Amino acid sequence: MKHVWEGKEIILGVTGSIATYKAVEILRELTGRGANVTVVMTESAQRFVAPLTFETLSRRPVLTDLFTLDYNKHIGHVAAGERADLLLVAPTTANTIAKFAHGLADDFLSNLYLSTTCPVLLAPAMDREMYAHRAVQENLALLKARGVHTLDPEYGELASGLIGRGRLADLSTILQIVEDLLGRQQDLTGETVLVTAGPTQEPLDPVRYLSNRSTGKMGFAIAQAARDRGAHVMVVSGPTSLATPAGVLRTDVTTAEEMYQAVLERLDTTTILIMAAAVADYRPSTRAPQKMKKQETITIELLRNPDILAEAGRQKGSRVLVGFAAETEDLLENAREKLQKKHLDLIVANDIRVGFAGETTRVTMLDRQGRVEELPELSKREVAHRILDRVVVLRRGEHA
Ligand code: C5P
Repeated sequence: MKHVWEGKEIILGVTGSIATYKAVEILRELTGRGANVTVVMTESAQRFVAPLTFETLSRRPVLTDLFTLDYNKHIGHVAAGERADLLLVAPTTANTIAKFAHGLADDFLSNLYLSTTCPVLLAPAMDREMYAHRAVQENLALLKARGVHTLDPEYGELASGLIGRGRLADLSTILQIVEDLLGRQQDLTGETVLVTAGPTQEPLDPVRYLSNRSTGKMGFAIAQAARDRGAHVMVVSGPTSLATPAGVLRTDVTTAEEMYQAVLERLDTTTILIMAAAVADYRPSTRAPQKMKKQETITIELLRNPDILAEAGRQKGSRVLVGFAAETEDLLENAREKLQKKHLDLIVANDIRVGFAGETTRVTMLDRQGRVEELPELSKREVAHRILDRVVVLRRGEHA
């Protein structure tokens, strides 16, 4: 897996703990595999190990001071964050976890954390009681829900003399997760991913429409994640207030019929179609040219909208097709049925009784080989990556 490491930009954040010395070994292993590593140290980390050690081994200046400009005259923490493929903080203290969780920014590392969009991996190390404390656990849960990767500390003897969970994760475990996260990054190079997002709106008259509560967040998270992994990404979006991720080609549509046209026009060039949009199943049979007047009762006739995904399934070719199944009952059965009926490779089922407009979601993935993967509640960004992990495997025709 040498190519995974070669030339990658890793920021190694080092915070102050008895385990700080272990970061030296981590740095040696990372550079030894071919990564370029920039070390950022907190003030307390510098009380345990001198920056000179890291500077010598990384052959780069160690970043400690928020109030200097780097050699490009950029603001240091922003410039460092922009270049990074991964931010690894090892060891991570309870204090740094709390700062990240609550957005405090009072040193180089905490500012960099807030300004970077690269994947973040934390390897906590602290005393047993501290790690078990609800404050720490809840802060970690908050970070995980936002897509931060965290490693559980190991069980064993601690500097305090206690035995328990708190030791920095094993070096080989840390390296393995870093390799997984780096490897993830360019595995969609050469692919053209078409993602649909948001609701559709089906007009009744010039001011009223039928729609649903979809926000488009899941679709946009997938678009961004696919872009980060090297794909050429197009989004066909229903009405949402979300900003377009940089580098993503966006087409806005309003109705299901418009979405149908937009998707089919782009199908030829698409290698992976991910239908995250909540397409309205019905549209009013007529659209009143003027605002409808009040009456005691009105009857609206609804017509079935075309099923975009089912049509894409009929023209499948070698394309990978991913659908979503938002259900309020019999989640897996319904999802499995849609997977088969629409000729999909993967279906992402979410029980919308737990809500679907938030920042996090809880889904189960079913693929055409019958494999079922139930994910815990995660940020939509992390769910997007998990979906793409499966897509990469399906695209390669591997039956993992
Ligand atoms: O059958 P159901 O609407 O539950 O299937 C959901 C999946 O099908 C979603 O991926 C959704 O984007 C897609 N769909 C579609 N066209 C429709 C309705 C749903 O592509 N008219």
